[in-house]
Amino acid sequence: MLLADAIHSRISARAFLDQPVPQETVRQILDLARHAPSGSNMQPWHVHAVSGKQLDRIVEESLAFAEEHPIGSQEKEFQTPAENFIQPYKSRRYEVGMGLYDALGIERKDKVRRNEQLMQNFYFFGAPVGLFFSIHRTLMPGQLGDLGIFMGNVMLAARQFDLHTCAQGFWQDVQPALHRVLDIPEDYFIFNGMALGHIDPEHPANSLVSGREEVDAFCQFAGFDE
Ligand SMILES: Cc1cc2nc3c(=O)[nH]c(=O)nc-3n(C[C@H](O)[C@H](O)[C@H](O)COP(=O)(O)O)c2cc1C
Repeated sequence: MLLADAIHSRISARAFLDQPVPQETVRQILDLARHAPSGSNMQPWHVHAVSGKQLDRIVEESLAFAEEHPIGSQEKEFQTPAENFIQPYKSRRYEVGMGLYDALGIERKDKVRRNEQLMQNFYFFGAPVGLFFSIHRTLMPGQLGDLGIFMGNVMLAARQFDLHTCAQGFWQDVQPALHRVLDIPEDYFIFNGMALGHIDPEHPANSLVSGREEVDAFCQFAGFDE
């Protein structure tokens, strides 16, 4: 697959087919992704790749944790509180959120169905594989960018195997449960989760097209014509 095709065909998939992904395929995706650059080549990424009964256990324990500590009730490390977002970011965020609800036929005021969609994160949107990306706390915040680059590589490498992904910052809300189930030491920060699997092309959640600004909206060129 051409890189351009991988980039254009990648979307955040929020509904997956009930079709397993072999461990060897996950390994091959990570084998590509590991070539990501990182500051001073520190390669700060740690990944837990989970499937099958272990994934069910994560769902179970995380849901139990969220019963006691509702999603959104805790202060998040290294995440801007929603009320602090300024324009144009605030509007972009609103637009993609509402776009998803529209695609799913969820009324904007329907908090119950909106919450049901949020809850889909717990189930990795039906994906057979969950990936968790963590980093040693001593490397934060400096190397978080490295982890982001690595995750980007994973998302694009997945396309090489005709698989889709959805990055999930959502999992930061239930970190204590993840530390326990995955046996991740406390001095590691679980930055993101990621659903990985075969996309359900018919599902309305996957019909959402998120827009992007043109290059001139975010890049100021200088010195090229001198
Ligand atoms: C770091 C990161 C965390 C994200 N966390 C979530 C999440 O928790 N749940 C979710 O449904 N989508 C999540 N997304 C997906 C974004 O909403 C999505 O990338 C964005 O709307 C652009 O859409 P696209 O990926 O389909 O191009 C996340 C994306 C990134 C890069």
